[in-house]
Amino acid sequence: MTPIRIAVDGYASTGKSTLAKRLAAALGFLYIDTGAMYRMVALHAIRHGWASPDGINAVAINASLEQLHLGFARDTQGRNRAILNGEDVEEAIRSMDVSRVVSAVSSLVPVRRRLVAQQQAMGRSHSVVMDGRDIGTVVFPDAELKLFVTADADVRAQRRFAEMDAANPGSVSLAEVKSNLLQRDKEDRERLDSPLLLADDAVVLDNSSVSPDELFDQAMNLVPRR
Ligand code: DC
Repeated sequence: MTPIRIAVDGYASTGKSTLAKRLAAALGFLYIDTGAMYRMVALHAIRHGWASPDGINAVAINASLEQLHLGFARDTQGRNRAILNGEDVEEAIRSMDVSRVVSAVSSLVPVRRRLVAQQQAMGRSHSVVMDGRDIGTVVFPDAELKLFVTADADVRAQRRFAEMDAANPGSVSLAEVKSNLLQRDKEDRERLDSPLLLADDAVVLDNSSVSPDELFDQAMNLVPRR
C-alpha cells in the first residue's frame, strides 16, 4: 500500500511531539521526531567544539555529516530514543546547551539537505507521522494531512520548563526557557533555507487551552480514511 504521510509542524514546545506520537500509535504509523535529528547534529558539534552560543564552525559541521549516523530506537517501555553513532543520546539532546545552538546548526544548508533526504526516504518506505518545522512545506509538500500546532508562549514555556525541571531539577529557570523558545522561533522563522512557514493547505490546531485528549480527537478527525 502507498505510504501515508502526516506532517505536524509548528513552533517550539507547542505539544507537537505528544500529538504526533499519539497519532502514530493510534494509526500504527512510524513516528519521526525530526527536531531530534537536528539536535543530534548540534550535540555532535558541541562535543567537538564546533558550536557554542558564541557561534558555529559551519565548515567543520558540514564536513562531519558523512560520519554521522542518526537513528531511533525504542526502550523497554516503548519510548522513543535518539541514537547518535550507536550511542543513546535521548537525554543529552534535550539539554539547554543543545537548545541554545540547535537553530543555528539547523540553518546550515548541507545539514538540512542531508536530514531532509533521510526524512523523505523514511516516508517512502513507511506511513509516518513526522513532526518538525518544514515537514508540510519542504519534506512532504504533498503530505496527505498537514497539521500546524500553535499555543500561547507562556503555556509553551511552562510546559517545556516542567519537562526540563523534572529531568534535571533546578537546572534551568522558567524565564530562561521562555527566552530560548522565543529566540528559536525567531531563528526558525527567519532562516533563509526552509523557514518555519504555515503551508497553505495546513490545518491550524491551537493547543493553548485544550486537553491532550481534545487535541488528539481534533487531529484524528482530520486523518483521511482509506
Ligand atoms: O522540535 P525541536 O524543538 O526539538 O527542534 C529543535 C530545533 O531543530 C528547532 O529549533 C529548529 C530545528 N528543526 C528544524 O529546523 N527543522 C525541523 N524539521 C525540525 C527541527
